[in-house]
Amino acid sequence: MVTHDLIVVGGGLAGMRSAIEAARAGLNVAVVSKVYPVRSHSVAAQGGINAAIKDTDSWENHAFDTVKGSDYLGDQDAIEILCQEAPLNIRELETMGAIFNRDAEGNIAQRPFGGAGYPRTCYLADRTGHALLHVMYEQLVKHGVVLYDEWNVIKIVVDDGRAVGVIAMEFATGKLHRLHAKATLIATGGYGRVYRTTTNALSCTGDGLGLALNAGVELMDMEFVQFHPTTLKRTGILMTEGCRGEGGYLLNGKGERFMERYAPKAKELASRDVVSRAEQTEIEAGRGVDGCVLLDMRHLGEKKINEKLGQIRELAINFAGVDPVKDPVPVRPGVHYSMGGIRTDNGCATALPGLYAAGEAACVSVHGANRLGGNSLLEAIVFGRRAGISVVEHCRSTDLPRFPDSALRDAGHEVADIIRREGGEDPASLRNEMGEAMEAHSGVFRDRERLAKGVEKIAALKERYRNVSLTDKADYYNNELLSVIELGGMLTVAESILIGALAREESRGSHSRTDFTTRDDANWLKHTLVYKDYGRLKLRYKDVAKTRWEPQERKY
Ligand code: FUM
Repeated sequence: MVTHDLIVVGGGLAGMRSAIEAARAGLNVAVVSKVYPVRSHSVAAQGGINAAIKDTDSWENHAFDTVKGSDYLGDQDAIEILCQEAPLNIRELETMGAIFNRDAEGNIAQRPFGGAGYPRTCYLADRTGHALLHVMYEQLVKHGVVLYDEWNVIKIVVDDGRAVGVIAMEFATGKLHRLHAKATLIATGGYGRVYRTTTNALSCTGDGLGLALNAGVELMDMEFVQFHPTTLKRTGILMTEGCRGEGGYLLNGKGERFMERYAPKAKELASRDVVSRAEQTEIEAGRGVDGCVLLDMRHLGEKKINEKLGQIRELAINFAGVDPVKDPVPVRPGVHYSMGGIRTDNGCATALPGLYAAGEAACVSVHGANRLGGNSLLEAIVFGRRAGISVVEHCRSTDLPRFPDSALRDAGHEVADIIRREGGEDPASLRNEMGEAMEAHSGVFRDRERLAKGVEKIAALKERYRNVSLTDKADYYNNELLSVIELGGMLTVAESILIGALAREESRGSHSRTDFTTRDDANWLKHTLVYKDYGRLKLRYKDVAKTRWEPQERKY
């Protein structure tokens, strides 16, 4: 058994940021990650990170845009923290070595992003996440954080009402390890892969959410799944909002700039839920082009496209055979981000002492029913740092808890059961069926019938999952075993999304019901909580925190 003060599960931006904060305060910190940290999905974030850093902008304006973008479901106290602390965090990123594009005066350049009343997205071309993740990794090494990479956590160990560490599997050997700690922090990112097509990496299977539920911790607002308006035809690869921020616009099959009808002021830079719904409406009304609409950037010119959107050009050519310099790119709404996640307080603590969560895996909640582009990297950095600070306080005031002997044995039996099973269900087929069901029953538009059918399908898949078996019985690098372990958590995540969506009889942000088409503040201005009760998922609700902004009709 190895012992640390803090074990961070997940090596993306939020995980590394929190590890650095704790390590530089003198804690003994380890990061356990399924992938090498610089391969974490944060690397794929393209467009930028928001902060009110100019005199003509203010954190209050940023906070108001975020509250409005969240369709008033975001907790306003948490949003105030996010926006107030944003400039400080950007400055700190710079001192760590982060490079941002510059304006003519040499200051950090900012581009307009959707739902924002001011161009406040700081960026590095279309590779912002890549740049920040590498800076964070350098800091991780500098501060001597121990890394267990290509290890997968399969259990949060709980003893006497406290989180006391984890059981993790080392891919190279198949061995299970006990990692004992005063504090455990989940930063495993989003769950986009429960859908068939997504902008998310293969590793985005929402593992931390299943782990938290099993440890007795609640999830929050799981029905709110963000569809990004511009994902590439067929593959679902992200075409950054920066394409529209830099001046690209959307056309339907008749060549109309249709956003003028849906959001007369902001047009393509309305919030993501609004633009995605508009696109889906055009496509379903037969005004699309082969299931897509068109993202036109030709007027930006080759020089600007190469300078600001070079990766986008490369991706469009390689994966859709379209050069944005010469032709419009076929795009459609695609699953991109999980607004919901593990319920935490503003210091990233869960209700289980010793367990924390940050980043996309967590729900603080700063995004409510719809996240603004550029606020995700910001959340990872701001709340990653805050999580590190909270953990330091916790570790200084607590002794190392007991680690129960039974934890390793029980986890070993569960894994052995999967490996021993013969002739059962094929995990890959189950995973495909889950992705298809989620796409068909929990998409941009939802209704009771579709959602209820989805709940039934996922319940049937969960039943079949109990009999899943492996064709690969190897101890080392057993990817099939990993995918079965992931699938167990993913089915729970899928069920959480569907039952939350079925229960919420209104339309708010990304949750758009064709049978309840309006927002209903009288009955539904509240967070959905999902918890496990004797193995079954149940729902309860919690009020939204309001500081200064009364709910208004959202117009862009
Ligand atoms: O469009 C984008 O570049 C994505 C940014 C985000 O999700 O924040």
